[in-house]
Amino acid sequence: MTRPDGPLVLGIETSCDETGVGLVRGTKLLADAVASSVDEHARFGGVVPEVASRAHLEAMLPTLERACLDAGVGLDDVDAVAVTSGPGLIGALLVGVAAAKTLALGLGRPLYGVNHLAAHVAVDQLEHGPLPEPCLALLVSGGHSSLLLVDDVTHAVRPLGATIDDAAGEAFDKVARLLGLPFPGGPHIDAAATGGDRMSIAFPRGLTSGRDMDRHRFDFSFSGLKTAVARWVEARARSGAAVSVPDVAASFQEAVCDVLTRKAVAACQAHGIDHLLIGGGVAANSRLRSLATERAAAAGIAVRVPRPGLCTDNGAMVAALGAELVTRGRIPSALDLPASSSMPVTTVVA
Ligand code: KG4
Ligand code: ZN
Repeated sequence: MTRPDGPLVLGIETSCDETGVGLVRGTKLLADAVASSVDEHARFGGVVPEVASRAHLEAMLPTLERACLDAGVGLDDVDAVAVTSGPGLIGALLVGVAAAKTLALGLGRPLYGVNHLAAHVAVDQLEHGPLPEPCLALLVSGGHSSLLLVDDVTHAVRPLGATIDDAAGEAFDKVARLLGLPFPGGPHIDAAATGGDRMSIAFPRGLTSGRDMDRHRFDFSFSGLKTAVARWVEARARSGAAVSVPDVAASFQEAVCDVLTRKAVAACQAHGIDHLLIGGGVAANSRLRSLATERAAAAGIAVRVPRPGLCTDNGAMVAALGAELVTRGRIPSALDLPASSSMPVTTVVA
């Protein structure tokens, strides 16, 4: 692509419950249209895959039209089409992949089937400029919790660790549910915690000591924490004592943020990295942001966190990675590109 201001790339995201269509020119964000089906899942307390797939089908064309209108471009102007091909919910991914193939074929433009996690990393350059490489990425959302070593976001991303059970956001959602807070629970726990004492209850920090730590140095585990919160609340209720939702929320949140930031900083130090990037829906958490900033600064590490709207799932992140792939001359995907629910992060382009 020879345009001086970089290629115009359309990005499509449908891996979970957000239908996202973004338009990016080079590293400039032109449009980020998102339709969420989160309200349709609220009464189930979690994302229902079939409901998400149907919502993507309904939202795809209106969201595509809105993105083009917002950006003031026509589909003919697009130089390449990028789409999340994995990981994610298979039925949901298929809707985006089918739409992207149709557009690429109809427009005669290259198609890039990209990794969702790498896209969460690439999106930061829309806000903070060129990605510092190498950097370490902590990605925390309802579907994933990963520590990645990013040498080159277009083809060299190494997983250092991940959750071995619940994702961080999933833990926030489950604990919120048992505290009687609405779905998705993260923002509600965050808000409740501001009025609580984070030192009031010593909840466990999974995989941070002994043999567990030796075997899972940069992995996470949040299901034991969730169970500990449930037991604590049950025991209080049985004894007739009041449960302080702010105190439980603040202590639980502290346990999650303590582990995430401790391991992220330790991973940076172990690999000699001085840039930490945080992404995913949980990156909106106020305590995670402040603790990460504080601990990273003490270790001489710079922290980058995109604004909340770019941290949660969206099409702009896919377009951002697509534009970088085009700019760095990476080979596009074949038109028989599959959707892959368990696409490894080592595969940036399928
Ligand atoms: O990235 P995202 O929009 O979707 C995926 O799961 O991929 O992340 C949603 C998750 C939910 O679990 C939600 O509870 C959590 O991010 N979340 C938060 C906050 N805002 C959203 N968790 C903690 N604190 C927040 N302020
Ligand atoms: Zn995500």
